[in-house]
Amino acid sequence: MSDKPNRHIAPQKKREDVNLDNAIRPQRLSTYIGQDKLKANLEILIEAAQARGEALDHVLFHGPPGLGKTTLAHIVANEMTVNIRITAGPAIERAGDLAAILTNLRAGDILFIDEIHRLGRAVEEILYPAMEDFVLDIIVGKGPGAKNVRLKLPKFTVIGATTRLALLTAPLRARFGALYRMDFYDQEAMEAIVTRGAGILDVPIEPIGAAEIARRSRGTPRVGLRLLRRVRDYAQVRAEGEITEKTAVSALDLLEIDHLGLDDLDRRVLSAIIDKFGGGPVGLDTIGASISEESDTIMDVVEPYLLQLGFLERTSRGRIATPHAYAHLGRAMGEKEIKQSGLFE
Ligand code: ADE
Repeated sequence: MSDKPNRHIAPQKKREDVNLDNAIRPQRLSTYIGQDKLKANLEILIEAAQARGEALDHVLFHGPPGLGKTTLAHIVANEMTVNIRITAGPAIERAGDLAAILTNLRAGDILFIDEIHRLGRAVEEILYPAMEDFVLDIIVGKGPGAKNVRLKLPKFTVIGATTRLALLTAPLRARFGALYRMDFYDQEAMEAIVTRGAGILDVPIEPIGAAEIARRSRGTPRVGLRLLRRVRDYAQVRAEGEITEKTAVSALDLLEIDHLGLDDLDRRVLSAIIDKFGGGPVGLDTIGASISEESDTIMDVVEPYLLQLGFLERTSRGRIATPHAYAHLGRAMGEKEIKQSGLFE
């Protein structure tokens, strides 16, 4: 570490990443890059509700982590000029916790529930009538004297977010008027997001530098902005502060993010399937145990991108590494593996 004063970043610009994350987040739909279809649909939903002077219908965003579900919830609140209350499935432990939240909402408010697939059964039971009829059914008292009391709630909007649509119970899913799937961003959108982030961080960036970061960001803004910050550090310490193609390539190579954006965990998952289990099929939990990683992390974070790249297949018998995965890792596919995979039957 050098103790020279830093030439490239003014002291007042040195803020914590957390603050930067908030600053980087777009606040309006007009500055939100990518997800064009979803944005168009959301715009109509918002405009129609506003024109009628009604609360927005309940909205569910689903898709891999880091694609902007929380950001969009904030944007919807801004566009509707309403308050947003943020919580998460695992944070609402008891029915009473949800009742307390619901009774503090005002008309039109948004209740954002992240990881909504992780709500407990008792909590969900409270949520159904609240979402459908804007009522809260509570039991007052105990024993034979207990009474059912129905409280009216203001018309509010639930925005739910989940990485696992399949884990949502059917009755909960049915209560959402709008379901939107978030897709990985394309190269052009990722370049624009990285460039916009660099502008907010006040770090100079060459278009080909931004393109290099975008290419290795697995179509995920959260990843792209994280890599941007690390490349910025590298450019600051090892170069002249500007993010060029060369600094981006050197920084990302040093971080062991390969040219498709695969990191150490992705490669460990693929290597485990190929080297320990003959290319598969092998169950998710078996893969997780063999590399000491949570199955949930593999399923939510690693697999969606490997599936999208065509490196992995999910079958009823388990996960299979495809020939593309073998090629990427520089492994030869033997006759036994080809036969065992069942991919060419
Ligand atoms: N920052 C993170 N995601 C973004 C997006 N989709 N558009 C603009 N800025 C972003």
